[in-house]
Formats: sequence, C-alpha cells, structure tokens
Amino acid sequence: MVINIELSPLPLPPSANPSHFIEFGREVHGVDPGNLDPQVFSEIERLLYKHGLLLFRSASLSPEQQYALTRAFDLQTGTYGHGNNLLANQQKSILHPYLKSIPRVPQVQLVGNGVIHNHEGFDEVELKHLARKTLDVSAKAEEDELQFTQFYRWHMDAALYDLSPPRVTTLYGLRIPSGESQVVRYDDGTDEQFKVPLACTAFISTRTTFNALSPSSKSLAVRCSVKYAPHPFEWMAPAKSRNNGLGIESEGLEVPLSELPEWDPSKIKILPMLWKNPITGDLHLQVNPSVLLELIIAPIPASKRAGADGDAVFPDGAHITDLAAARELVYKLQRPSISPEFIYPHAWSEKDLILFHNQGLLHSAVGTLRRDQIRVFHQCHLAASADPAGPTEEDVLKWS
Ligand SMILES: [Fe+2]
Repeated sequence: MVINIELSPLPLPPSANPSHFIEFGREVHGVDPGNLDPQVFSEIERLLYKHGLLLFRSASLSPEQQYALTRAFDLQTGTYGHGNNLLANQQKSILHPYLKSIPRVPQVQLVGNGVIHNHEGFDEVELKHLARKTLDVSAKAEEDELQFTQFYRWHMDAALYDLSPPRVTTLYGLRIPSGESQVVRYDDGTDEQFKVPLACTAFISTRTTFNALSPSSKSLAVRCSVKYAPHPFEWMAPAKSRNNGLGIESEGLEVPLSELPEWDPSKIKILPMLWKNPITGDLHLQVNPSVLLELIIAPIPASKRAGADGDAVFPDGAHITDLAAARELVYKLQRPSISPEFIYPHAWSEKDLILFHNQGLLHSAVGTLRRDQIRVFHQCHLAASADPAGPTEEDVLKWS
C-alpha cells in the first residue's frame, strides 16, 4: 500500500537562513494524529526521523491519545522521560515547579502559564512559564522588560540518570497567549538578538550543529563521550545558566556530589557526543550542556594517525574532569548553532501538535509572560527502552 501524506515546509521567520532548513521540519496535512493506523504511523515515524519535527495543525488529541502516539515510537516503554515518580520524589529538582502530571495519564504533563480551572482533573492549578528574570533590563519598568526575553535553557528532554533519553517529544498547544512579539537577547558577549513570537518554542537541529563544525572539531566530537552528573537536575539546581541558555556558568554552585540523594554509579549516563539518526544515518551533536560532568575522548584510530594534521585536538585521547574546561569545550562546539539563522522559533496556534525527534534536536522555551497571559500545553516524552546509538566504527574512521 502506498501512503501519500501531504507535507509542506514550515513557515520560516526572516531571522532563519533557509539553507539550514532544507530537510528540517514539515507540516503534515490530512492526517488525524490521534488515530493513526499502523501503516500511516510507520510513515509518520520515518518522516519524523528524516525531518526532525512534524507539525499538525488543528489537532484533536486527548491525553490518552497523546500518550499512545508518543509510545508508538517505542513500544517497550511506558515511563515518563524524567521517571514516573518525578513529582513525588524530586521536589528539589529544577523541573518540579513547571510540570504537573495529568492524573488520568501521568506520563502526560500539563505545562504553561497562569491559573487555570477545571482542566483534565485539576480544579485549579497554577502553571509557571519557564523563564528567567536575569535580563539587564530587569530593573526597569515591567513594560520595558516585556519587550525583551531570553532562551530559558537549551536542552533535550531527558533525565540523563538511570533512564534513557526519550526518542520523541509531543507538545500540544491548547491555549496560546496573545501579545506582542519579543526580542531574544543573547547577552553572551555577542550583540546577537532577534525578534520572536510571544512564548514560542525554539528548536535547532543538532545534525546542523555537527555539520557546521570544522574538521578538527568533528574529529573531536566523533571520539568524545559525555558523562552526566548523578541526579543531574538536582545537582545543577543552585547554579546559574548562561545568559543565552546554553549551559551553566562555572561558579562552583552545583550541589556537591556527596550531598546529593543517594546515587548508584552504575546509573550514571555516559553517552556518545554524537547520536546516529536511525533513518538517515546522519550524526547529531546531542549534549545537554547544563548537566554534563566530564568528557572522555578516545585517541585518533591508529590507521588515521599518520594523516592527522597539526590542528588535531586531543589526538592521544583525554579524560577531562575539570568541569569548567569540559563545559567550555562543549560550548565552543554548540554555540555557533544557536545563532538566529539556525533557529526555528515555532509561533504556536491553538491546537498545534508538534512531534519532535528528541534525540536529534535541542529546544528551549522562550518568552517572558505576565501572570494573566494564560498558556496551556500538554507535553509527553517517554524514557527510551535503550540508549541512543553512537557513531559506527566507520563513522569514527571517517571523521577522526
Ligand atoms: Fe523540553
């Protein structure tokens, strides 16, 4: 049976450079994402890994349907990406104030902004938009402040301790705040800034992050593994994000490892820096910079050593345990790809459903909202049944 699913490109803003988005993102037409038969689902799955992000407009999706759709990408799992006990056991985590499990389907989270009533089993619930008030302009009048915003935190949805990173995240917008667009300021030593729709979600493809690297950085990336902290979101909770949301300032504010709740060394995640796309075979530079602890770099393979040029980085391998140095190295690899030309900021409309390849994109909440600007979303991602695949031996030989 031939399945014809109609696709169109995403609406790119003027800030985006279309040449970075030739394969990235598609709007899907004529398909009801809550009721996909297996053949249509297989095609959606293939398109998701190929294009990274699929948008369905005017979707109608109960929490049960959203859970089933998310789980269809990995039928071996049923665990929320941060663990089903997140709300019960991780009160100290930075994620706690922002996520409310829907009682009927706890793997689906209610996220958003403001006080809402009579929603999916909640009589009244207060939601808090992910935003930081650290702008230089924060001392000025509120009206001034609301013209500007920042990225909240570039990340993938993943616990990065014990559980494997979810393959796919589904984000369903039920109520979208209206208001003026805002200007994202980077405040990172560059003068970069760009205009975004109010409370958009920003996405980058980490395939593009890898492809944009120099040959010596690609050689480093393909040989590198990232060790994440135990209980990573509790560990980093006291620390301050960089102004551009890409990782943490190294000020020694993290919770000492000895003061974290008990942790099991065998549950610490050590993952390749590059994750291999199951459909395209492309490599994605997939690191959550906020919770990395150490880097482990393998030597350049013997057969490539003779050809390694003078620019080779750590040709003999290295184990970088200095937190600031590890962060700085990853920052240099990731920072170019959060420039405005690489970002797709999704301007939400009511009942938009986005499925994104959580093992191949990073995303960030954006926007500074007043309390009365109501935003209601349902979000779901499930811990994968296995860790993502890294580069093959062939990839290592090719890129080292
Ligand atoms: Fe997220």
